[in-house]
Amino acid sequence: MALKMASFLFLLLLVISMLLLTVSVDGSSNTNKVYQPCADAKIQRSDGFTFGIAFSSKPSFFYNQNQSLQLSPCDRRLSLPSSNSQLALFRPKVDEISLLSINTSTFFPDNYGGYMVAFAGRKYAARSTPAFVANGTYIVTSFTLVLEFQKGRLQNLYWKRDGCASCKGKSNFVCLNKQDCAIKVSSCKGRGGLVDCSIGIQLAFSGTDKHLSVLNSWYEVENLRQYSLYGLYSNLRDSLTGEYNKFF
Ligand SMILES: *[C@@H]1O[C@H](CO)[C@@H](O)[C@H](O)[C@H]1NC(C)=O
Ligand SMILES: *[C@@H]1O[C@H](CO)[C@@H](O)[C@H](O)[C@H]1NC(C)=O
Ligand SMILES: *[C@@H]1O[C@H](CO)[C@@H](O)[C@H](O)[C@H]1NC(C)=O
Repeated sequence: MALKMASFLFLLLLVISMLLLTVSVDGSSNTNKVYQPCADAKIQRSDGFTFGIAFSSKPSFFYNQNQSLQLSPCDRRLSLPSSNSQLALFRPKVDEISLLSINTSTFFPDNYGGYMVAFAGRKYAARSTPAFVANGTYIVTSFTLVLEFQKGRLQNLYWKRDGCASCKGKSNFVCLNKQDCAIKVSSCKGRGGLVDCSIGIQLAFSGTDKHLSVLNSWYEVENLRQYSLYGLYSNLRDSLTGEYNKFF
């Protein structure tokens, strides 16, 4: 109970800090009045765009036993709210590269099934595939999420993987399933180790907005990837890359 409450407060704080961040970065022109993740929005560049990330077990994102039919977390048939799950909301600015951070000092994803799905929309519902985040042994701390729009409507959300290129040669990372760089949970703060295992999610936008302007932050991420975007976020640098370099 206490844990649930703590997680809820944490997520609330996360949403608030994200909103503050958006406000402070962007004094200008938001035309998107849709603030709920389970509603349909049509965006233009410079708008804010709300989406959610749900944490739960992999089977809980599917409607049927054999896991062939994945539904949006907004779909009531999944009954995610009554299962062991957590929800984080974000509102990044469209076509800006953002690094979302989920602080795992009080929120352990492996306590909530260990998988996450990014989602938005209702009639035009889009959801990513479930991505492995953590189990009792490993945690993946770095993700790239692409939001693909057509004429301003979200069409697709997908995890972009680099086949473990970013952790090649770093001995304390393990490459899981040839796609995710993971570290041992026992290295994490609060779990017996020293590393801040907060989760970083790099966002990129692709496709077109409602005026058919091309969203191209994706191309910037492609080009920047080799330098690791974490270096651009000075407040996170110490807690993410810095820690890795220090301890590994
Ligand atoms: C999975 O279940 C659905 C019905 O829920 C069925 O139509 C489909 O053929 C099954 N797929 C496999 C691979 O068993
Ligand atoms: C996570 O929260 C803890 C405790 O509030 C803080 O010390 C740490 O710096 C935070 N990590 C990140 C990446 O913000
Ligand atoms: C965690 O996942 C890894 C990779 O899939 C697997 O090898 C390991 O056995 C899992 N550990 C637990 C405790 O489930």
